[in-house]
Amino acid sequence: MRGFLHCALASLLLSVVWTRPHHEDHADHTPDHHHHLHHEKSEPHAAHDHIGPTCHKLAPHNADFAFHLYKHLSAHAAADNKNIFFSPLGIATALSLLASGTKGDTHQQLFEAMGYGQLSTSEVNEAYEHLEHMLGHSQDLLQLDTGSAVVLQEGFKPLQKFLDDAKHYYQAQGFTVDFKQSEEAVKTINKFIAEKTHDKIPELMSSVDSDTLMVLLNFIFFRGKWEKPFDVKNTRKADFKVDNTTTVSVDMMRRTGRYEYYYDHENHTTVLMLPYKGNASMMILLPCEGKMKHVEDILSKEFIQHWHDNLFRSSVDLDMPKFSASGSYALKDILTEMGVVAAFSDTADLSGISEEVGLKVSQVSHKAVLSVDEKGTEAAAATAIEIIPMSLPHSMSINRPFLLLILEESTKSILFMGKIVNPTA
Ligand SMILES: *[C@@H]1O[C@H](CO)[C@@H](O)[C@H](O)[C@H]1NC(C)=O
Ligand SMILES: *[C@@H]1O[C@H](CO)[C@@H](O)[C@H](O)[C@H]1NC(C)=O
Ligand SMILES: *[C@@H]1O[C@H](CO)[C@@H](O)[C@H](O)[C@H]1NC(C)=O
Repeated sequence: MRGFLHCALASLLLSVVWTRPHHEDHADHTPDHHHHLHHEKSEPHAAHDHIGPTCHKLAPHNADFAFHLYKHLSAHAAADNKNIFFSPLGIATALSLLASGTKGDTHQQLFEAMGYGQLSTSEVNEAYEHLEHMLGHSQDLLQLDTGSAVVLQEGFKPLQKFLDDAKHYYQAQGFTVDFKQSEEAVKTINKFIAEKTHDKIPELMSSVDSDTLMVLLNFIFFRGKWEKPFDVKNTRKADFKVDNTTTVSVDMMRRTGRYEYYYDHENHTTVLMLPYKGNASMMILLPCEGKMKHVEDILSKEFIQHWHDNLFRSSVDLDMPKFSASGSYALKDILTEMGVVAAFSDTADLSGISEEVGLKVSQVSHKAVLSVDEKGTEAAAATAIEIIPMSLPHSMSINRPFLLLILEESTKSILFMGKIVNPTA
């Protein structure tokens, strides 16, 4: 067939944990929080029913997609034992926006890969509209900015309906560049993302094909503050055992406090929730020594639910490394493995985007960044003292590879997921 025009899909994520200190870090909401957790625990499915089910419709599918995607990323990263960090929600959002402009097999494969087989396009679109709306509730406690953009070749006019849907359901913005001047185009795109991510991702793209017609971008910027910050005074150097032959020195933060905790001896995992202020938490999964592979293999929505349901409030002596992690992924091969084949092929049906030209997707790229430290400690001074019962605390030292999930509770979304093999990498 004659010259297929390319379309690239880039998706980008970012998460930064409290980059600015705050003054209102009081723990006076703690009783409520206890209540909330208790409530959640006894009625895990009923806790948020008052919100309405629209965005929750996607939650179980997006969770399955997250673990499915994780396993593929992990298999690819296994050879070099690399850290993994990505936003399942960001990738699913970008793919859903793309799907809204596809038909036939192209559409079906995208929906099947995401587990939306039983849903209609309009159900999915409406669910994302609701999700964006929920996440967009900018709060003082938790900053979460998500968004998408459609970048078009100057002079190329996609169907108005696609642009309208992108705007309406995915809050996607549109602008044009001249991809033929690819350096300039890259500059414009990077500037747009840098602005949207408060300069945390200054360079999303390094290059772009000059025959590109359209790029879809997705970003999520997250800035959370620990509900219970670490005290800088307690941070010291400690060993982190990357594997049997490699040990690295990390800045180990330390805090003794009450946490939601569960030790699953049978399945070789210690589980801990580190709540952020607001509705997000980091869930840490620390496999027993030598059991990372085992835990990665069993990882699923059902296991996460099992562990979540079994959490109990407990005193914990926690050692947690300060680290930052980032992941850059070209997802074309992985998505192809997951059954998304047609979108990248010459038989791609992107006729919901344009009927005039044959489009196919040339790449799906994704970038995520996370940094974890104790900042906010200034505020820690104002934190109410926790009553720690006279029982021996559990000791949890995160001194070996671990998994993490950043969960947003009101939408039941997995914002980020990762494996930290080496905190200094
Ligand atoms: C690491 O050491 C443990 C116990 O010493 C052993 O069981 C395991 O097989 C070793 N792993 C590798 C990759 O050598
Ligand atoms: C280990 O996993 C199995 C299967 O999900 C579950 O039934 C069991 O309760 C888990 N063990 C513990 C101690 O939680
Ligand atoms: C958490 O989410 C609920 C909706 O589920 C919302 O009403 C509430 O304001 C959120 N809490 C915070 C602290 O943002």
